[in-house]
Amino acid sequence: MSEPADRGIMICARGLTKHFEDGRIRAVNDLDMEVATGESVAICGPSGCGKTTLLNLIAGIDRPDAGALTVGGCCLTELSSSAEDEFRRSVVGLVFQLHNLLPNLTALENVQIPMIAAGRPPRQRRDRAHSLLERIGLADRANACPPTLSGGERQRVAIARAMANEPRLLLADEPTGALDSKNGQLLLDLLSQLQRDTNTTLVLVTHDAQVASHADRILQMLDGRIVESLPRH
Ligand SMILES: Nc1ncnc2c1ncn2[C@@H]1O[C@H](COP(=O)(O)OP(=O)(O)OP(=O)(O)O)[C@@H](O)[C@H]1O
Ligand SMILES: [Mg+2]
Repeated sequence: MSEPADRGIMICARGLTKHFEDGRIRAVNDLDMEVATGESVAICGPSGCGKTTLLNLIAGIDRPDAGALTVGGCCLTELSSSAEDEFRRSVVGLVFQLHNLLPNLTALENVQIPMIAAGRPPRQRRDRAHSLLERIGLADRANACPPTLSGGERQRVAIARAMANEPRLLLADEPTGALDSKNGQLLLDLLSQLQRDTNTTLVLVTHDAQVASHADRILQMLDGRIVESLPRH
């Protein structure tokens, strides 16, 4: 695997800091990290070490208190709020621990949500949603609503939704956290395959060493900082 310096840089954080409770909680604390374009990286670390906070900063959901953060060439500390909306719509796709699908919409409609926000025409939205559902093996469940899908199927729909606008960066926070190990494995295989096929950069947060071993590199996080970077062995 080539080093980040050999390729384009997707994420570059320098001195990144996010505190809560008037500085009493240092969730992300003077953190440095770099992720290359097309790379897959797992962020591991104990509960409360700042993984989700870091992901929210990279996604442009939260703003840092200090430091520099560039994602996909956008300097997130300097974006106007309209540019920030555009960044969230077009650069990143998000998958959470719990799928966050809308229960009253079908799988096909859920996958189309980000494309509606991006202003894609209806026909194009439906076609792309269909082909994504086919891709994740759920073409025959396109008209099912989330409560009638299994946990693994819902997470697959969540991945299809995250990929809807062809994001350059996919961020996943414990995407297998609510699944048994067999379904977790299937989901990871799917995620890795999609990531490689589309050359998407993937940042995956996980507690699970087995899950992390899928990534090109493992970043160990402790007390708001990246303390170790290990290539896959
Ligand atoms: N909105 C918030 N307000 C106050 N404190 C917060 C907020 N969000 C997170 N924290 C605190 O910041 C620290 C880091 O939280 P974070 O959710 O990033 O941890 P995590 O590594 O994702 O943990 P887990 O593995 O349990 O999901 C924790 O001490 C948490 O209580
Ligand atoms: Mg978390």
